[in-house]
Amino acid sequence: MQYSDKVMEHFMNPKNVGEIENASGIGEVGNAKCGDIMRIYLDIDPETQVINDVKFKTFGCGSAIASSSMATEMVKGKTIHEALAVTNKAVAEALDGLPPVKMHCSVLAEQAIKAALIDYSKKNNIHIPELDGVV
Ligand code: FES
Ligand code: FES
Repeated sequence: MQYSDKVMEHFMNPKNVGEIENASGIGEVGNAKCGDIMRIYLDIDPETQVINDVKFKTFGCGSAIASSSMATEMVKGKTIHEALAVTNKAVAEALDGLPPVKMHCSVLAEQAIKAALIDYSKKNNIHIPELDGVV
């Protein structure tokens, strides 16, 4: 199996690892396929809806860690609306691709960010239309 240099870089040197105390939203998702778990913490400015900070903890494979690292980099400093446009495909592309059997690892990253945004919207009673129907 071939991993891109970018995947290796983000696996060896992941960005935004850790937790945020009193996070605005926390999302945890598990991967039924492999049992791996990813948790994303968001710090969102209530005025501007901008994601000021984001951290992750991932108990999982190298691709899941690389995907978390890349995904957190991609949503940092973005508005909620912009962050929701960061799909797993976009994460995988930014990593110069993932092997087909590892695409589900990037899905985990998209889902964890969405779960954290759902948590944020519930806590603050905000309606985010893009998240309607997302579990
Ligand atoms: Fe082996 Fe996730 S299935 S690390
Ligand atoms: Fe399960 Fe990567 S193998 S998240």
